[in-house]
Amino acid sequence: MVYSSSIRRFRAADMEDILRVENACFGRFAYDRNLFAEYAGREGDVFLVAGRGRRICGYSIACVRGGAFRHAAELVSIAVEPLARGQGVASQLLENTFQRLRLRGVRRVALTVRVGNRRAEALYRRFGFRRERIVPEYYEDGKDGVRMGVRWE
Ligand SMILES: CC(C)(COP(=O)(O)OP(=O)(O)OC[C@H]1O[C@@H](n2cnc3c(N)ncnc32)[C@H](O)[C@@H]1OP(=O)(O)O)[C@@H](O)C(=O)NCCC(=O)NCCS
Repeated sequence: MVYSSSIRRFRAADMEDILRVENACFGRFAYDRNLFAEYAGREGDVFLVAGRGRRICGYSIACVRGGAFRHAAELVSIAVEPLARGQGVASQLLENTFQRLRLRGVRRVALTVRVGNRRAEALYRRFGFRRERIVPEYYEDGKDGVRMGVRWE
């Protein structure tokens, strides 16, 4: 079945829901409360949540770089809780994020994805991201990362 989600900006009251989604998705590698609070408080970041009715089922965070690099952004994280996957929630989060970034004049987005995270890589490819290089031992557990990027006209 296809459900539609509502996408909106993160609010402080969403924190517990975001931590629930984060822990369900990343386990021992989950970001902590302080890190989410930092992203939420930073001017220029695009921190969005996806809701089904009143339940939050996903989030995404993108940071716009400052100064001379203000046309470039980094997709820092995206996650959708397991039961809500495969229904387009991450795609809606990315569409909404990229619309906002384009309006701010961003022309390039980059990200790092864990080698072997085929689902995420396939999602990014659908949005035009291409592999740029491997970053050896990028992750805490020694796994390599894949650097991907997209450039808009
Ligand atoms: C990667 C992740 C964010 C994708 O979230 P998602 O909401 O399932 O993504 P989408 O539904 O938008 O797209 C994923 C799949 O659903 C399919 N899909 C999209 N819209 C759909 C719809 N309306 N109905 C059914 N399926 C749909 C897509 O074709 C895609 O298929 P495929 O990947 O099997 O080829 C999610 O799996 C996740 O949270 N993983 C753990 C955290 C993670 O790895 N994050 C990325 C870190 S870099």
